[in-house]
Amino acid sequence: MIVLGLETSCDETGLALYDSEVGLIGQVLYSQIKLHAEYGGVVPELASRDHVRKLIPLINQLLEQSNIEKSDIDAIAYTRGPGLMGALMTGALFGRTLAFALNKPAIGVHHMEGHMLAPLLSATPPEFPFVALLVSGGHTQLMAAHGIGQYELLGESIDDAAGEAFDKVAKMMGLAYPGGPNISKLALQGSATAFDFPRPMLHQGLNFSFSGLKTAVSIQLKKVEGQNREADIAASFQEALVDTLVKKSVKALKQTGLKRLVIAGGVSANKRLRERLEADLAKIQAQVYYAEPALCTDNGAMIAFAGYQRLKAGQYEGLAVTTTPRWPMTELSNPNEA
Ligand SMILES: Nc1ncnc2c1ncn2[C@@H]1O[C@H](COP(=O)(O)OP(=O)(O)OP(=O)(O)O)[C@@H](O)[C@H]1O
Ligand SMILES: [Mg+2]
Repeated sequence: MIVLGLETSCDETGLALYDSEVGLIGQVLYSQIKLHAEYGGVVPELASRDHVRKLIPLINQLLEQSNIEKSDIDAIAYTRGPGLMGALMTGALFGRTLAFALNKPAIGVHHMEGHMLAPLLSATPPEFPFVALLVSGGHTQLMAAHGIGQYELLGESIDDAAGEAFDKVAKMMGLAYPGGPNISKLALQGSATAFDFPRPMLHQGLNFSFSGLKTAVSIQLKKVEGQNREADIAASFQEALVDTLVKKSVKALKQTGLKRLVIAGGVSANKRLRERLEADLAKIQAQVYYAEPALCTDNGAMIAFAGYQRLKAGQYEGLAVTTTPRWPMTELSNPNEA
């Protein structure tokens, strides 16, 4: 089965073709980063309009580079939520309409389920059950994943998401969006122990809070103004955040008795996080799994793949175009029991 995946929940237009026999057969991605740069954040209306402009040229490019005809597509998966309402509508309308025209099934996919299943596309995919650490621009969650659509929320951020904390700290330091890659690059030249930033809520269950850490960095930045300590601040901030993610993940593995940790979302591309997890999980005979860096941030491949998991069980949408801008992942069902 060849599934076309469409991702338009925020500021990336991602399209991909997943073939259940051979794996990924093509993908294209257009990022709107430059479009939103002058506003310091994503402008929803501009995002929607740009998806509309890019969807048709991108699908033509994808079909051409993959050597696939529209008629070869067996099903279409699009991001149904969570995300920006207008942006979601563009991909959902495009996908549902194309599926109708081709007389093929369409499925609306949960964006975070897409992120979480992306590591299953790697050469050494994890098996269920596992604990998932979802760390992106809008989410920081620990989930116990027992199978497709069988997700149990173990903990989440009560304020900023991990990626959001990276982005906000980067902004304070005058670094460009997205902040994560820029902070981690600068951190290579600094000392992770230069400043002892707080590890919020470390000993309180599995929830996270990063807003106090962000404030602590802001105060420290003012204190050392003009002293050329930015690299030390970046390294110490990254260490505090990574330390918190690692310790909570270990706690979640111990609590559930599971031995596999899947990390997903943009922050899972962070090298220091991967290093620390490899080291700390080895101590408890557990293993960490992640996607290749290009599949950590938003992309069409993860949507095609997650869509396929449901389509193969016979799950698909009716003709109505539905988007769900707020959508807890725990509301998803097991497609084999639906
Ligand atoms: N190497 C890195 N280190 C730390 N953070 C990173 C790295 N690469 C990307 N990020 C962060 O990942 C985030 C983007 O990830 P992603 O595209 O998964 O999030 P999103 O789609 O904006 O949010 P959501 O998926 O929750 O809707 C940004 O906050 C970015 O700073
Ligand atoms: Mg995302």
